[in-house]
Amino acid sequence: MTNKFIHLPPTEGEYQLSHYEGTRDVFSWESVHAQFSWNKTGKVNMAYECIDRHVDDGYGDKTALIYIEGTKREELTFHELKKRTDQLAALLKSRGVKKGDRVFVFLTKHPDCYVAVLASIKIGAIVGPLFEAFMEEAIYDRMYDCEASVLITNSELLERVPVNKLPHLKSIYITDESEDESLLSIPKLTSNDTEIADVIEWVDLNDGMIIHYTSGSTGKPKGVLHAHRVMVQQYQTGKWVLDLRDDDIYWCTAHPGWVTGSSYGIFAPWLNRATIVVHGGRFAAEEWFDVIEQAGVTVWYSAPTAFRLLMDKTELVKNYNLSSLRHILSVGEPLNPEVITWGVETLNLRIHDTWWMTETGGQLIVNLPSQTIKPGSMGRPLPGIQAAIIDHQGNELKRGELGLLAIKKGWPSMMKEIWKNEEKYHSYFIHDWYLSGDLAYMDEEGYVFFQGRDDDMINSSGERIGPFEVESKLIEHPAVLEAAVIGKPDPVRGEIVKAFIVLVGGYTDNPKLKKEIQTFVRYKLSAHSMPREIEVLDELPKTQISGKILRRELKRKEIEKLVVN
Ligand code: WT7
Repeated sequence: MTNKFIHLPPTEGEYQLSHYEGTRDVFSWESVHAQFSWNKTGKVNMAYECIDRHVDDGYGDKTALIYIEGTKREELTFHELKKRTDQLAALLKSRGVKKGDRVFVFLTKHPDCYVAVLASIKIGAIVGPLFEAFMEEAIYDRMYDCEASVLITNSELLERVPVNKLPHLKSIYITDESEDESLLSIPKLTSNDTEIADVIEWVDLNDGMIIHYTSGSTGKPKGVLHAHRVMVQQYQTGKWVLDLRDDDIYWCTAHPGWVTGSSYGIFAPWLNRATIVVHGGRFAAEEWFDVIEQAGVTVWYSAPTAFRLLMDKTELVKNYNLSSLRHILSVGEPLNPEVITWGVETLNLRIHDTWWMTETGGQLIVNLPSQTIKPGSMGRPLPGIQAAIIDHQGNELKRGELGLLAIKKGWPSMMKEIWKNEEKYHSYFIHDWYLSGDLAYMDEEGYVFFQGRDDDMINSSGERIGPFEVESKLIEHPAVLEAAVIGKPDPVRGEIVKAFIVLVGGYTDNPKLKKEIQTFVRYKLSAHSMPREIEVLDELPKTQISGKILRRELKRKEIEKLVVN
């Protein structure tokens, strides 16, 4: 297969990093274990490795976090972060929260969110960070399935949590104050607070640590549980792929509710002692450029949709000094070659694509800084990772052949389990291969080219949306009899959610009704799952035998329409 885009070799500086390549054949993940502290007990804790360790090593005064939101700006050192997480951890522990309990964190991108996640991990709890834009139903499904006993939130976001419907929920902590005495306010740290000793719960590498819910093409979202052992992969990819060094100011734009925002928004950078930037608020091109300039961001990890939105505002670039940037990475959806060209032309930097999934916990297929980029390809497997293109029987296909992208089992950040769903967990594997569900081919040099999904999953702006979840919500609306939801190709968002609906007798197709249905999904589920387009049909295409809705048929027609227009 040909590639009309010119291959982009690394720059001279990047090329210096090519020694990583030499490790490809000899590298073993076990060799990374020597990086960790192992306490006296031979055990570990992610929160210790991310925070306390740096204080013990003499870096307590180093800035760990720069928070920017509008005109607000706040900085936390590793020492302050240690004190704040110790204090919250001690509070949770004193109230009986134990190892393995599920603590959910529902907060905006704010230092409090990072403190809450790491404090929960410190005491060995399993933390469930929730995306800040989730609405009642999305929150309920996750917390109910996970039997969460503790929630950390603030009084504003709490209004969206259906607390009375959550039988396992025992206590709610808020980061602000409230008149409601059943809510426990987390006290603010003062300079009089002394160090708290021995609050860390030392655990095994395989003990559960964080859970992210993610969608597939069927059923409700599934809980993907990761163990403390993800630190092995996240530490190493933080070095190899993010290329983090001591003086870096690193900005990952994802919220910790998504795996990118935890694996690479918290763990990888802090395991590597980098300073992270936390930007609160919604996307706005001006603000984003301003964050880079103000914080002096050097390494930046974001997503194609964001780059495409910024590309649209290229005229703004000249108003900002973006010269601090030295390394840019992308994840979550296909990175168009045009975006890479834009990066080279406007920022004088190559954008490095990376591929991985919620289930894989860490990056697997990447463009190392020292690697030639082939625009259109997601890159090559990391050292220590074996990838292949296989068929549905598990046979390896030849180079250039289209098939299922699979990874040989055994990398450290592989999910530990799907929460309370062993069958689902096993469905990811065939022989020794983990099946990604992505369709791809690999060229002679091992570069992987993403070609789409093998199932009906939708990827809108890098967010994974299960059609079933949206369809279920749509048919709860009194006017909707049946619904089918697909991802319609979109130049900015990659795909948008499009719904085909059949109306209940007596209702007629009109813009007001469509708007009402959209609002219904938006406020019940979440903004990103709302169908941006709704089309009313007399009936939905179905298979003759089982009567299953043929989403693919609808998608094929939609793509044909786009080609014709
Ligand atoms: C799915 C995983 C963990 C990263 C954030 C998304 C798609 C991911 C790429 C890429 C093309 C990509 C795949 C994958 N995807 N990265 N570089 N190029 N597609 O995690 O929500 O678990 O989604 O996102 O389809 O299977 P996720």
